Amino acid sequence: MQQKVILLTGASSGIGRETAIRLARQGHHVYGAARRLQLLQSLQAQGVHPLQLDVTDPSSCAAAVQAVVSAEGRIDVLVNNAGYGHFGAVEDVPLSEARRQLEVNLFGLACLTRLVLPHMRHQHSGRIINTSSIGGHFTSYLGAWYHVSKYAVEAFSDALRMELRPHGIHVVLIEPSSIRTPWGEIAAQHLEEVAQPASPASPSSPSSSVPSASPSSPSSSVPSASPSSTASRPVSSGAISSRPSIPSPSSPSLDGHTGAYLDESRRTAAFIRRLWSSSLISGPRAVTAAISSAVNARRPSARYVPGRFGRTLILLHTLLPTRLFDYLMRRTMTS
Ligand SMILES: NC(=O)c1ccc[n+]([C@@H]2O[C@H](COP(=O)([O-])OP(=O)(O)OC[C@H]3O[C@@H](n4cnc5c(N)ncnc54)[C@H](OP(=O)(O)O)[C@@H]3O)[C@@H](O)[C@H]2O)c1
Repeated sequence: MQQKVILLTGASSGIGRETAIRLARQGHHVYGAARRLQLLQSLQAQGVHPLQLDVTDPSSCAAAVQAVVSAEGRIDVLVNNAGYGHFGAVEDVPLSEARRQLEVNLFGLACLTRLVLPHMRHQHSGRIINTSSIGGHFTSYLGAWYHVSKYAVEAFSDALRMELRPHGIHVVLIEPSSIRTPWGEIAAQHLEEVAQPASPASPSSPSSSVPSASPSSPSSSVPSASPSSTASRPVSSGAISSRPSIPSPSSPSLDGHTGAYLDESRRTAAFIRRLWSSSLISGPRAVTAAISSAVNARRPSARYVPGRFGRTLILLHTLLPTRLFDYLMRRTMTS
């Protein structure tokens, strides 16, 4: 087997960690990257080179690629695997959190891709392997921004595959179904945190323990109204009524936290926790096998769908009428 130089993101946990170990055992030169360096250090004993990386920071991305190229003189494979699921109703999730979801799952991946491409074009060979999801084909309940990010990874990768064909570079999509990793607990926590009702005592933006947007993220310029405020109207509405205000059950707020989806969010979070701790879903090994094939095959497939029920769910989504699929999804996830 030809030894390859591989940069793999999201190596501190779950799918990325298992994949880094597997690829290093095959003899590849694997650089495993993530923010939590202490978790990466333990990979060293398995032959993986740890690299600290925050994919939302372009200078961190540039330093990671430079470190690999300086040490090895080339880079053969980029596995864009870092990502998380920010679940929550659209009305509840602040736009700053939605932006952060895209910064990690889409723009981080795009930034690293752009950085490795000059080297791969120069070599006239290379592989970009992007971890998407079956959630890049259809949408689960209360997962809008996560699915936006994965649909975008699908489109980005499909476009890139055509662009890079003349340069001898393969682009591969990995589309796992539900996989037992910390991903499930992180998604459930986001869901519960953003679904909390706003405190009437703090009419502006209620604080959230969910990681905040990067400092460079622009904050919303639209004034927010307290969900409990009866007098506030959105400035953009243009009409300022002189009549006594009628209590509104849902004064618009771009800060999220309406409380309107609390019960459904809690039930969905409970469903996610149950599913992710059950033996109904696959472990990360199914995905590491697919990524390993994408790295080693002479001519890799454009898409791999590892994990139980993935292909069936994609097929069901294609065959069933949209409203029936919606109904089944919502019903299952709130059961
Ligand atoms: N598990 C599933 O059911 C499932 C299904 C379909 C697709 N996926 C996708 O598979 C990929 C891996 O997920 P997983 O299941 O292995 O989850 P995980 O165990 O939570 O791992 C996520 C990895 O992403 C890294 N990461 C997150 N934010 C980052 C940032 N800003 N910069 C650099 N690294 C960052 C984390 O490292 P640090 O926190 O140390 O930075 C961690 O290593 C994700 O793209 C996920 O969306 C997962």
